[in-house]
Amino acid sequence: MWVQASIDRYFFREPYSYQNTIRKLSREMSAILDLQSLLTHLSAAIGQTVNCETVDAYAKDFASPLYRRLASWRSVPDEASDAPVFDETSAIVLAMAEQRRYLLRDEILGEEARDARKELREVSADFAVPLFQDERLAGFFLLGPKRSTDPYFAEDIDLLTTLASQAAIAARNAELYAQFVASERDKRRIERLASVGALAAGIAHEIKNPLVAIKAFAELLPERFHDEEFRGEFADIAKQEIERIDELVKRLSGLAGPREPAFTTIDVRDCVEETLAVVRAQLQQAHVSVKTQYSIESRLVAGDRSQLKQLFLNLFMNAIEAMPDGGELFIKIENQLRPSGRMIIVDIMDTGKGVAESMLMSIFDPFVTTKLSGSGLGLSICRGIADAHRASIQAKTNGSEPGLTVTLEFPASSRATSLLRE
Ligand SMILES: Nc1ncnc2c1ncn2[C@@H]1O[C@H](COP(=O)(O)OP(=O)(O)OP(=O)(O)O)[C@@H](O)[C@H]1O
Ligand SMILES: [Mg+2]
Repeated sequence: MWVQASIDRYFFREPYSYQNTIRKLSREMSAILDLQSLLTHLSAAIGQTVNCETVDAYAKDFASPLYRRLASWRSVPDEASDAPVFDETSAIVLAMAEQRRYLLRDEILGEEARDARKELREVSADFAVPLFQDERLAGFFLLGPKRSTDPYFAEDIDLLTTLASQAAIAARNAELYAQFVASERDKRRIERLASVGALAAGIAHEIKNPLVAIKAFAELLPERFHDEEFRGEFADIAKQEIERIDELVKRLSGLAGPREPAFTTIDVRDCVEETLAVVRAQLQQAHVSVKTQYSIESRLVAGDRSQLKQLFLNLFMNAIEAMPDGGELFIKIENQLRPSGRMIIVDIMDTGKGVAESMLMSIFDPFVTTKLSGSGLGLSICRGIADAHRASIQAKTNGSEPGLTVTLEFPASSRATSLLRE
């Protein structure tokens, strides 16, 4: 095949359609964003187009004065040989930098260029084409002899110099892209570190809540010491909450890893009641009374018991903290049929200081707090838990009344739905 083509070319000097080649290659070049692939692709395209024996592509090292081979193409595959390395004192490099143009071995005349000619012969190259970026020699192609043993014609030189100037631009783009990728990688690493920080803060926050509950019980203990029921309750809560802290600490030290949520069918009322027991001492200290209203229809949701208790604990703590001078905590659970399906709706209402309308949207964001010693993580943890349960969570003011209402809407457990249908 190639024999016929070279014969045609030799006898008829039929120029290859080098406009087409350039158009095709420059389109392809702009799509390749790493230098090595770019030079590999170009080396092969050049080799096939001008039909030479070898093409080697050299590029300047980032950090040293060396030009190293990044890509090569052979018309006949040969054993991989060690590629020469050129530095700034190489005669080829000096001649191209000085003349700011290609070197054709047979055209090099004059004493000074003798070294360049010799060096080209040593590396079996007939033709060297520079890649200039601004004033800088960024790299070059070395082409071996043509397979037809023809010399390099003017059209070859045109093709190669045009391709080289486009390749230099594409190489610059590849370099910029590499820098961009590196900076994206840095950014992701910083984000990961920040999320580790946030994780630690989150766990610290989760540890604080049970500690506060235990402390409140401990504070009431001296005056209630002879109340056997209170002592029993204290013992239960302390044990249960210390176990929870223990699990959190294990998770933080990486022993347990993030616990997979364990979903079961849960009566939301049980979670609410168990969590109310944990904050009983705080409610008492803050003179907050509790009122509940539970739907007599199913209150079953698919959920992780421990996570749901953590969710309610955060919400109850916020409510108690909003009512330092006492008030009322009202918890209502409803079962409603919506167009989207059956929902379990939990309202947690307090008569505390409430939230300014303008802040309602942001209180679920991490680190948003109005409290001196708050971390601002409670509600963002709540939102994370709600998301994991495909539940929505929203806060609204109580209209003309003081206080805040947080509303959770859980999809009813499908088991519950089927129970209802029976
Ligand atoms: N029931 C509530 N009544 C009034 N304001 C509330 C209530 N719940 C939350 N907020 C407001 O939302 C903010 C964010 O609450 P979040 O639970 O995320 O953090 P925090 O309570 O400030 O800190 P932490 O939970 O770490 O103790 C609170 O600082 C408070 O201003
Ligand atoms: Mg909070």
